[in-house]
Amino acid sequence: MSDGRLVGIIGAGRLGQAMASTALRAGRHVMLANSRGPDTLDSVIASLPDGASAGTVEHAAGARVVVLAVPWPRLRDAVQGLTWSGQIVLDATNVALPRPLAFFFGRQFATAGDPARVQTWNGAQTG
Ligand SMILES: NC(=O)c1ccc[n+]([C@@H]2O[C@H](COP(=O)([O-])OP(=O)(O)OC[C@H]3O[C@@H](n4cnc5c(N)ncnc54)[C@H](OP(=O)(O)O)[C@@H]3O)[C@@H](O)[C@H]2O)c1
Repeated sequence: MSDGRLVGIIGAGRLGQAMASTALRAGRHVMLANSRGPDTLDSVIASLPDGASAGTVEHAAGARVVVLAVPWPRLRDAVQGLTWSGQIVLDATNVALPRPLAFFFGRQFATAGDPARVQTWNGAQTG
């Protein structure tokens, strides 16, 4: 967490790239990560303004602010084994289940482990 301006983004697809653009416009640095590794993100990084880099999921999760931007069915795998120690986590995933189940499973993730703070944009998960 040495660069306080760094935003780690787990998921480098449509939403991850949109979040990267927004954070870069705000003067942040971003590190994007996907499941296939940083070597597969050359074209994505090249398409973004200066300040974007590719990293592993573990490195991205070490940023002070971490965005989760993976398909919801992949979310558990994406955060498996990560260490949380005071990061602000923005979970932007949309839960792809009927609403009662979405609420239940969303709570399961939001309360799993020890994420310091979980902020939600979709209303289904509350920290
Ligand atoms: N809150 C909102 O306003 C809003 C708006 C749009 C979308 N969303 C949500 O955002 C999420 C992503 O949507 P999208 O359209 O950006 O999807 P997308 O274009 O398919 O991109 C998904 C990204 O997640 C990565 N990923 C998948 N499994 C992973 C894992 N285990 N570890 C690390 N990275 C992994 C993929 O990398 P690989 O290809 O290497 O697997 C890919 O970079 C969805 O949950 C969607 O519902 C929310």
